[in-house]
Amino acid sequence: MELRGAMVLVVLMGTTWSLSVTTIRPETVSMDAVARPDMAEENTEQTEAAAAEEAEEDVMATGELNPNHYPAQRAAKVVQHYLNTRHGSPYRLFGLKQVHSGNAEDVADSGRKYQLEISVHEIISNTTEKCSAEVYFPRGEKQLPPQVQVSSLVELPKTDVEAKEGELYQEYRTNKTLRTEKRLPDSYGHMDPEMTPFWHLGIVASSFIMLSESTENTLYNVAQVANITQLTTENDQLKFDCHVLLHDMVSQEIPQWKLLFTWSPAEGVKVLQTEKLPHVHECEKHPKTN
Ligand SMILES: *[C@@H]1O[C@H](CO)[C@@H](O)[C@H](O)[C@H]1NC(C)=O
Ligand SMILES: *[C@@H]1O[C@H](CO)[C@@H](O)[C@H](O)[C@H]1NC(C)=O
Ligand SMILES: *[C@@H]1O[C@H](CO)[C@@H](O)[C@H](O)[C@H]1NC(C)=O
Repeated sequence: MELRGAMVLVVLMGTTWSLSVTTIRPETVSMDAVARPDMAEENTEQTEAAAAEEAEEDVMATGELNPNHYPAQRAAKVVQHYLNTRHGSPYRLFGLKQVHSGNAEDVADSGRKYQLEISVHEIISNTTEKCSAEVYFPRGEKQLPPQVQVSSLVELPKTDVEAKEGELYQEYRTNKTLRTEKRLPDSYGHMDPEMTPFWHLGIVASSFIMLSESTENTLYNVAQVANITQLTTENDQLKFDCHVLLHDMVSQEIPQWKLLFTWSPAEGVKVLQTEKLPHVHECEKHPKTN
């Protein structure tokens, strides 16, 4: 039971610290409270918690990997970011559900390749899919983004995603202009339901950064979308300026990024500009770490 408590605490610090750490004490937290259906990263929590226990593990594990340990989890997380850059939308968002198996090998002197069998969860339709993925981390003086290939991801259920996207698009194209007033979610874990699609959009846009910043030694999530401001629509693309706080579970850093991106149902999310901002000190928002 002590182990379970520790895992939940890690979960809070890892992926949802910004939601309610000021009000929830570890001993009062249950898994149910953590696994809120509207939380983007819900299904990564258990596996990440397990992974966090292996924080000390050798980064360069080779051969068959323990699927619950950090090296496999970190590589699998990159696949989540990749899927969001390819398929993400205000109504489609992927989380890593489970790593079934993993294998890592050196590729000559050029980098390292991970072969993974994983389950990913599409959060909005609440569907889980198994897929195989290959993640290659190039080695070199300059940090290059990992390369990802995903095979055998079954056709995504279309359900009402397209209709909802169309509606949201029309609304913000003609009748409304987005300007957030609070962080998504705010420091108490609350969010106006009308803002949820834009929170998803902020996470999808952030996935482009998280994908390209990932190494074998990182594990990124979005901590908070600080704000999103809609700019003038150009070429039928809704355009947004956005500030996000990411969280690297390995270094415990909370890097802040500014990004400019567009979205339309036809073109998906396109990131035009990203900028890493100087470190922010927000001690009042940080969780107690012990
Ligand atoms: C998602 O699906 C799982 C299994 O199909 C189910 O147990 C769970 O309650 C569903 N969650 C939501 C939020 O609908
Ligand atoms: C936009 O506003 C007009 C008039 O106020 C209304 O008729 C129309 O249905 C609205 N469109 C959307 C997409 O909400
Ligand atoms: C968004 O948040 C960042 C810092 O979190 C701040 O510097 C910026 O001014 C904010 N932008 C808007 C439009 O509120």
